[in-house]
Amino acid sequence: NEIKIFAPATIANVSCGFDVLGLALDTVGDEMVIRKVAKPGVTITKIIGQNLPLETHKNVAGVAALALLAETESDFGFEIEIDKRIKPGSGIGSSAASSAGTVWAINELLGKPFSVSDLVRFAMEGERLATGVAHADNVAPALFGGFTLVRSYEPLDVISINTPNELYATVIHPQIEVKTSDAREILKTTVPLKDAIKQWGNVGGLISGLYTEDYELIGRSLEDYIIEPIRSILIPAFDAVKLQSIKAGALGCGISGSGPSIFALSKGKENALKVVDAMKSVYKKVGIDYDIHISKI
Ligand code: HSE
Repeated sequence: NEIKIFAPATIANVSCGFDVLGLALDTVGDEMVIRKVAKPGVTITKIIGQNLPLETHKNVAGVAALALLAETESDFGFEIEIDKRIKPGSGIGSSAASSAGTVWAINELLGKPFSVSDLVRFAMEGERLATGVAHADNVAPALFGGFTLVRSYEPLDVISINTPNELYATVIHPQIEVKTSDAREILKTTVPLKDAIKQWGNVGGLISGLYTEDYELIGRSLEDYIIEPIRSILIPAFDAVKLQSIKAGALGCGISGSGPSIFALSKGKENALKVVDAMKSVYKKVGIDYDIHISKI
């Protein structure tokens, strides 16, 4: 009647796929305990590590749980404990981990009445609360694992994408907070055709590279002509981090989700560790506090 889970951090957008591409990290995430109880309703009993609202309707995990329960006949209740290891506003899917982890665990405790795609739909309600927009590019990889593509939002069509074996992510988090809602507000609502052409070429190239495990093609496709030029101004020393990461052997480098974290993908752990050194030396030189980690995808 109780389940303890790891809810992974995620990198949304993955450069060229704003709101549609995402990937799950295997070493960074929240730990959660979800308990089935006789008393109906959803209660957030404890949050360790961050100061977040405990009221069910104000908490992303609570809202996602309620969205799921609205579609069941079950009259059980659920208690949620969150050990929040992912900092909110860091750009690696903090709200998504809480929402996705909660609905995944409740589905298990109910005997799996819902498909993973259903769970994505419920977890998106948590994202709606957190950012004002029910985007799925963090919750989908958190639930499916590996790489995912949101092929369509209406109707919702989420596809799990092949993840090459030797792919590693390096993620550096400058110690500032960027709210996703703020980082969305500054975006333009139209895209020049010449940029759209470059962008969808890259999305196709990246998907093809992931399936054929063509690391060079993955690298060539990791470029964002639409969002990064606008958002990168919010991120300290973004251009230098990107340049040095590529020089150190990264396949590509970009903004993780809505930032301020910056991610790079590499082939193999050794290369990912070289990128760690390259990113660190940029932030040491300009005097920016950070934390950094690598993760297999
Ligand atoms: N696709 C979303 C955005 C992800 O970039 O705003 C937020 O984590």
